[in-house]
Amino acid sequence: MMEVAALSAAEAEAALPQLAALLIDAVEGGASVGFLAGLSTDQAEAFWREQIAGVARGDAILFAAREDGAILGTVLLQPCWKPNQPHRADVAKLLVLRSARRRRIASALMEALEAKALETGRTLLTLDTETDSAAEPLYRVRGYVPMGIVPGHAMIPDGTLRPTTFFYKHLA
Ligand SMILES: CC(C)(COP(=O)(O)OP(=O)(O)OC[C@H]1O[C@@H](n2cnc3c(N)ncnc32)[C@H](O)[C@@H]1OP(=O)(O)O)[C@@H](O)C(=O)NCCC(=O)NCCS
Repeated sequence: MMEVAALSAAEAEAALPQLAALLIDAVEGGASVGFLAGLSTDQAEAFWREQIAGVARGDAILFAAREDGAILGTVLLQPCWKPNQPHRADVAKLLVLRSARRRRIASALMEALEAKALETGRTLLTLDTETDSAAEPLYRVRGYVPMGIVPGHAMIPDGTLRPTTFFYKHLA
């Protein structure tokens, strides 16, 4: 059975190879998730180590969707550190293994993230994603409001510059 839970830093550290494989799978699938084609395991693990350090400091919450011990997806809740935005958080690294997509795993991850955000007083969520990507309809269906498109904002893994759409959602 698939379940979504927040991982402790120790749990995430133990799952580092799986987290790295998930990120590499997304990049190999052409997703615009911060990296270019050819992402190595070392680079992917280094990225996750930084996120895990954030989890350990209490600066981020990492949710994972697991089935029979295997990580199928992730999402990060990153509460804004600024004293004048104690009610806002960013959403990052919503990733689902290509082999597990369209099973509502990303939806379950976002449900868990939004519940935690609300519980911790983070009532405004912001995120961005490649315009016309698979994630765009998902965010729209979940009530995220597109606030604009920045042309040529980021490269997809093959190096092509693509636009990015920025979204927000008020949870309360
Ligand atoms: C975007 C992503 C996380 C979606 O994960 P998922 O588990 O397949 O999504 P869900 O099954 O929860 O989809 C929920 C709804 O979102 C929409 N959706 C999801 N993937 C879609 C796609 N490829 N095309 C169109 N709509 C899509 C649909 O409305 C879907 O509902 P439906 O299956 O009943 O039609 C996944 O495709 C992914 O990891 N992509 C690469 C990484 C990425 O781009 N992440 C976003 C970075 S901001």
